[in-house]
Amino acid sequence: MALERTLSIIKPDAVGKNVIGAIYNRFETAGFRIVAAKMMHLSTEQAEGFYAEHKERPFFRALVDFMTSGPIMVQVLEGEDAVKRHRDIMGATNPTDALAGTLRADYAVSIDENAVHGSDALESAAREIAYFFTEEELCARTR
Ligand code: PPS
Repeated sequence: MALERTLSIIKPDAVGKNVIGAIYNRFETAGFRIVAAKMMHLSTEQAEGFYAEHKERPFFRALVDFMTSGPIMVQVLEGEDAVKRHRDIMGATNPTDALAGTLRADYAVSIDENAVHGSDALESAAREIAYFFTEEELCARTR
């Protein structure tokens, strides 16, 4: 298995529920290392840019409004097979389809406010990481 990096976002609904630490605990228990992190309150422009591939979708405006409604926690997770394993831990996009024990089953209320985001492929992970972090902000393990 290859060591990968993936982008994770704890969305405004989950930050509002005060479960950043609980979610970080899931990441660490699963063997991921957090190699960069920042709390941000996205501007409309930043959210539109991040979700640009969805701009023709009917839910785009609601998604941008939601993602700018409060602070988010953005982090880069590093680990074996990180992109897929992180998606597994998150659960399905719609929490009603999410398996028990996944983050969305535990913390999301609806497909519109679904607690967490994770890159869906290595290529999108590279693009999404670069959207939020400079190369210098990615901290390699030193010990
Ligand atoms: S889809 O429907 O399979 O193409 O959705 P996906 O590519 O996984 O992600 C679309 C992002 O938009 C968010 N979102 C919604 N998706 C579908 N339907 C509705 N109503 C909706 N509202 C919001 C969804 O959570 C995905 O965002 P991220 O941040 O990737 O989770």
